[in-house]
Amino acid sequence: MSPPTPTTPSDAAADAPVLRVEALTLAFGGVKALTEVSFSVQPGTITAVIGPNGAGKTSLFNTISGFYRPASGRVVFEGRDIASVPAPQRAKLGLARSFQNIALFRGMTVLDNIKLGRHAHLKTNVLEALFYAGRARREEAELRREIEERVIDFLEIDHIRHAPVAALPYGLQKRVEMARALAMRPKVLMLDEPVAGMNREETEDMARFILDVRREWGITVLMVEHDMGMVMDLSDHVVVLNFGQVIAQGTPAEVQADPEVVRAYLGSGDVGDLRRRLRGAGADASASAPLAEAA
Ligand SMILES: Nc1ncnc2c1ncn2[C@@H]1O[C@H](COP(=O)(O)OP(=O)(O)OP(=O)(O)O)[C@@H](O)[C@H]1O
Ligand SMILES: [Mg+2]
Repeated sequence: MSPPTPTTPSDAAADAPVLRVEALTLAFGGVKALTEVSFSVQPGTITAVIGPNGAGKTSLFNTISGFYRPASGRVVFEGRDIASVPAPQRAKLGLARSFQNIALFRGMTVLDNIKLGRHAHLKTNVLEALFYAGRARREEAELRREIEERVIDFLEIDHIRHAPVAALPYGLQKRVEMARALAMRPKVLMLDEPVAGMNREETEDMARFILDVRREWGITVLMVEHDMGMVMDLSDHVVVLNFGQVIAQGTPAEVQADPEVVRAYLGSGDVGDLRRRLRGAGADASASAPLAEAA
């Protein structure tokens, strides 16, 4: 299958991060959800943000995608400070996402939900609409349909395209949300807990889709995930948040070996999982255990 969006960066920009978060600070009243958070996402990589419950992961996603306005710091997308770009336009620029709590229209069909995602690209102002008529419009509609079909085919949801979302099991709903994000032709796909609540089979399916999104379509992935097996197996780069601050970042092997990361996870529900991974890393520090052993 050919990719719907050529997202391979130009040679000149090959080493430049596609997304950069610089000293991002976010507060809710007196509560600091993020403090001076900085990291970069290289194009074509899978980057994971991990951390205990309440660490600020979703707040970080909401700030990157423009739902929250930071007190200070910058979000730089493809070299451009996007502070003044509202959320829907950020999606249009190429930052699409899924939500920790699935945000689909439950009464609508799978296909209609996917089509809605594409509206981010279609919203035109009056002036644009005047010039954007006839053939160009038809071509755009045709291209859109083609992309939707590719996404449906890619995520293996053809059999449920006319099913109302509410009737679907949770794992499939998560997949539909990913389809909607992909139909927006993102450069960076942001996934907030893509496998939360999934059984092992659903988790392995989703892991395969995430790898294929990167490999076949060249899309950069930024995900928040609690499933350590998934994170350690898939990620090129891991950013660890605790109490709104970056306490470690590096390769999966590096962050697993970081004592501060282990400390942060003590007492959290993820610690058993992390310990299992650490035992695996102890046996062979260069490789993480296969996904099937995780969770
Ligand atoms: N809209 C909000 N208003 C007030 N406080 C908020 C809001 N959103 C998040 N917070 C607070 O910010 C902190 C970070 O929350 P956030 O949801 O970003 O954590 P998280 O790392 O995504 O956690 P989880 O793993 O449970 O999803 C928490 O203390 C939370 O209570
Ligand atoms: Mg969260």
